[in-house]
Amino acid sequence: MTQRDIKAFVFDAYGTLLDVHSAVHKLSRELGPNAQGISDIWRTKQLEYSWLRSLMESHSDFWNVTADALTYALKYHDMEDQDLHAQLMSLYLEISAYQDALSTLKEINKYKYASLVLSNGSQEMLDKSLENSGLQPLLDKAISIDDVRIYKPSPQVYKLATDYVKCQPEEILFVSANAWDVAGANHFGFRVAWINRFKRPPEILPGKPEFIIDSLSELSQLYQPNN
Ligand code: LAC
Repeated sequence: MTQRDIKAFVFDAYGTLLDVHSAVHKLSRELGPNAQGISDIWRTKQLEYSWLRSLMESHSDFWNVTADALTYALKYHDMEDQDLHAQLMSLYLEISAYQDALSTLKEINKYKYASLVLSNGSQEMLDKSLENSGLQPLLDKAISIDDVRIYKPSPQVYKLATDYVKCQPEEILFVSANAWDVAGANHFGFRVAWINRFKRPPEILPGKPEFIIDSLSELSQLYQPNN
């Protein structure tokens, strides 16, 4: 791939640049042996509720969906507690970036590609999380689904990026660690790099990654800057 082939790198946020499990990890002592289980169910329900609400045409923003998913996860483990819920939600705004996220964005910025985020997150939570993780200054723009009120993998969401960059879908390299998002993004027409950190099989869905790499830091090997 040469620099001319694409106009922008567009990143998914949660699970790709930001480690969604870091909120629970920061409170693992208080949560005890259920910590990992709570984190896993929290994430699973967060995604399920976003997709279900899209299908039900009953939108609620990602902050509310995330809060509802946490309520479910705590209930599931018989650990309903308002203080715990409030603490975890506020930690969600301070989730950590993956250790190679900052250096990867710096590398991409050297080659003058636009770097964007396109996320199901509400604009407010996205802006706070990206600022707190230190990634915000390295991004040209963080695009939320708030305006279209439907969640990825709806094509309406991926179109927000082509509208913003004013380009064709194949002029975007979309980067996600979420296999369902990889499928949706390529189905829309983006070129896609899948960060397969956890060595999962691909989803059996329309849409395939062009590149499969283990970490964000390998992204820079995918392009040959022609300067
Ligand atoms: C994102 C999710 C949901 O769009 O991972 O950031």
